[in-house]
This record gives sequence, structure tokens and C-alpha cells, in this order.
Amino acid sequence: MAEVIVVPGRDAAGAMVAEATERLVQGKPDAVLGLATGDTPLPVYRALAERVRDGLDLGRMRGFALDEYVGIPLAHPQSYHSVIEREVVRPLRLAPANVHVPDGRPIGIETAGERYEDAILAAGGVDLQLLGIGTDGHIGFNEPGSSFASLTRVKTLTRQTRADNARFFDSPDDVPVHSITQGLGTILRARRLVLLAFGAGKAQAVAAAVEGPLTASVPASAIQLHPRATVVVDEEAASGLAELEYYRHAFANKPLWDPVIL
Ligand code: PGA
Repeated sequence: MAEVIVVPGRDAAGAMVAEATERLVQGKPDAVLGLATGDTPLPVYRALAERVRDGLDLGRMRGFALDEYVGIPLAHPQSYHSVIEREVVRPLRLAPANVHVPDGRPIGIETAGERYEDAILAAGGVDLQLLGIGTDGHIGFNEPGSSFASLTRVKTLTRQTRADNARFFDSPDDVPVHSITQGLGTILRARRLVLLAFGAGKAQAVAAAVEGPLTASVPASAIQLHPRATVVVDEEAASGLAELEYYRHAFANKPLWDPVIL
């Protein structure tokens, strides 16, 4: 079962995950961080950037993004290449050559998934994977129905995901139809997973992922298969969980030898 940690808000979540990331990098300076995009991981990146300003050196850390839109110009401000550069590489002072985003350019797209899988394997795998969750239960861009064994490949976005992401574009029609995303099988290979969710809009998806049946209809339920998955949620995102009192009790009684997240 995933460990569920309820925090007062986004900043507390960001601080907690940044702390775990710093600990990871202290033990392994070239650790591989799995990078999520969207609004959800921003508090983590902000908290890490603050630590970098205070002297934390992430110059050897490596990163792999979960996904990218297909056919979007790399220089488009909403391409995940641009988002990762703007929200992660620059503020965290990462070496650009150490950070990878799937290649969503139409030319060569047939082999882009395989090339990305090879790059992750060559890096020794992801140490800590950050995840958001879509209102339709996706992680990465693994839309409902995605195989639990899937690897990086092209997926067609659902109407719901395109509507959710329309806020980032001038018009809803500008949201790309296709993405290239790490598969659920790729994500499950990471050594640790941290799924973050904030706000009432995520409550149903979180409950289905954590407590619902293991089903491809809720791709995030795949985290139940992972031995070291942590779900960090605010009160609103936690509000649909049936066993909330147990999760609070377990966290309040967390053994001292069991560090938060790592
Ligand atoms: P969000 O998206 O962080 O912008 O809410 C999450 C997701 O779609 O995975």
C-alpha cells in the first residue's frame, strides 16, 4: 500500500519532498530525479531552488521528464522542454546536458520511446520519481486503459486532459492531441515514487488510485504495485480517502528508523 501523508498545503509538501531529494543527493550526488510537469510539482522545485540558493549543489544530479507533447515546437513556452528548462534546470542550476525530456518531434517519433527507455536504463534508472495525477487518473500521460506494462510511447490525450491543460494555451484547440510519455511499466521501475496532489478536484482520482481496485481504467492505481510509493496530499485532495484516519495514525506513529519518503 502507498504511504499517505496529509500536509497542510503545497508549501509543506514542497518542503518535505525537497528535504528528501536533498538527502538523496547527499548520498548520491549524481542521483536521477524523475521530473513531472504541470502545476503540482512546482512547490517541490521552488523549495529545491531555495535550498540551491542557500548552497545545495545539484550540479551532478540528473533528470528525466515523464512526458512531452508530440508536434509542439521545442521553443513553444508550453513544450515540456521549455517548461523543464524554465521551472527546473535554471532555478535548480542543473547541468542542461544532465536533463532529458522525451523527443516529441514528428520526425523519428516511431523510435523516440525506445531511445528514451535506453537513456533511462543507461543512466541506471530513476532514483526518485515525482508524479502528479490527472483528474482522469492518469500519471505521466498514461490515459485510462494504459497497460501496467507499458513503456515510453505515443499516447492520444483524452478530451478531459486536453480540457484540463487548456489553461496553459491560448485556445483549447491549441492543446496537442498526442503526447509521448513514459509508460506505467517505466514508472514502476523507479526506485521510489512520490505522487503529489492538491485541491478538491483531485480527491476522486486520489481515492481511486490509493484505495480503488488495481485497474488500467485508473492508471495511477499502478502505484499500488510499487513497494515504495508515497502519496503527499493536502486536506482537500485527501478528502475522498476512506482510511484517512489510519493514514494519519500511521504517520503520527512513524518509526524513527523509517525516514519520510526516502
Ligand atoms: P497538474 O496536472 O499538476 O497541472 O494538476 C497533473 C497531471 O495531469 O498529471
